[in-house]
Amino acid sequence: MKYKIFTFGCQLNFDDSKNIEIFLKKKGFINAQKLDDSDLVVINTCTVRQHAEDKALSLIGSLKRWKETNKDRKLIVSGCASEKLGEELKKRFEFIDYVIGAKSYNKIYEIIEKEFPQKPINTNLNLNYDVSAYQTISRGCNMKCSYCIVPYVRGNEITIEFKKIIEEVYKKAKNNVKEIILLGQTVNSYFDRSEKKDFVDLIREISQIDEIKIIRFLSSHPLFFNEKFFDEYRRNPKISRWIHLPLQSGSNRILKIMRRGYTVERFKEIVKELKKIDTKTSISTDIIVGYTSETEEDFLMTLNAVREIRFSFAYCFKYSPRFNDKEPLTISVEELEKRHQIILSEVKKIAKELINEKKGEVEEAIIYKGSSGKTHTGYNCCIIDSREVEGSFVKFKVTEIKNNTLYGRIYE
Ligand code: SAH
Ligand code: SF4
Ligand code: F3S
Repeated sequence: MKYKIFTFGCQLNFDDSKNIEIFLKKKGFINAQKLDDSDLVVINTCTVRQHAEDKALSLIGSLKRWKETNKDRKLIVSGCASEKLGEELKKRFEFIDYVIGAKSYNKIYEIIEKEFPQKPINTNLNLNYDVSAYQTISRGCNMKCSYCIVPYVRGNEITIEFKKIIEEVYKKAKNNVKEIILLGQTVNSYFDRSEKKDFVDLIREISQIDEIKIIRFLSSHPLFFNEKFFDEYRRNPKISRWIHLPLQSGSNRILKIMRRGYTVERFKEIVKELKKIDTKTSISTDIIVGYTSETEEDFLMTLNAVREIRFSFAYCFKYSPRFNDKEPLTISVEELEKRHQIILSEVKKIAKELINEKKGEVEEAIIYKGSSGKTHTGYNCCIIDSREVEGSFVKFKVTEIKNNTLYGRIYE
């Protein structure tokens, strides 16, 4: 049996897909090279912006011929757009076999068992993880930012048990993983009530696993930074020196109606503290332009914040209304496009300046494959004279910057 999985959206969706893949491999399935070879197709969808939903829908549409050529083939559409559209999806694409919403993602396992009842043949499967692996620590979100559909399609936040996470990370560490990327919509709000363990406790416990050399996490929410985290950041060198911290807007008025719960001043304070603890800290972010009622002035405040904070990178999004008549777009599409272009070119300019400052610096990096890897500070790198093995942690001196990548030589 052969499968193909298409995944849209965020890392959480990619981690869910990875787990489905492991499940299928244990049942003896193999990854199909071509669509026409596959007996099962899973499309794991996203709906955070209309564009994401449209891409998934158009892929589904393109599978009609594949599905109708052979009725035994199974098509499962899962994820966030499935949760939002539900039965509507089945009506529109009557050839879909199953629609599974993100809230009931576990159903996919039952359905695969039902459709493909063969027993697992490969329970001792060599899991073959890469050097870097995701670890979901919470699902859903309790925040309800005004523009965001995630809490509605993924539900309220559910934290994965502390012990279970440690067990899974441990298993990954025994299977070659050296870098763990903790995932959650507000990853740093993690709290296991029965064990009374928070995000910092989790990081501490994971750092005890020798094989794990670096701990990254996303996305952090500014609301959940505290002294306990800053202290840990100070004393724990395994914590990534690159932190993704979404700002969304540089206008306090907009942040307030977005219900983000912090001000630009508080955001800057957090960045300042992180950089005070380690000057190498690099911060990336998410920004939305053109949110409901955003004036030229609000927009200029965002532009200003971008100039002041100097992000190593920023994902800039054009506001995409998700709730029918509520929170509409209040500027023209041309104006939205214009603001997006302006912020994007500023972000790129600053990112370029920052990466160029790395020339001559000594950086630490984890090697992923051959000579390429990622620095502690989150930059892609290529170590020209690397004789190191995958997963090792090296120091190198940056000699050149090309295509957003730091090139350098081992530094002893
Ligand atoms: N939980 C994360 C964000 C998850 S969604 C956090 O709070 O940081 C990823 C990003 O998509 C958000 O940070 C936001 O910038 C963007 N986004 C969410 N809803 C959007 C919408 N309706 N239109 C445009 N961008 C949106
Ligand atoms: Fe959406 Fe806000 Fe939750 Fe992030 S924190 S997933 S932006 S509601
Ligand atoms: Fe998209 Fe769902 Fe992630 S809406 S961004 S796949 S949580």
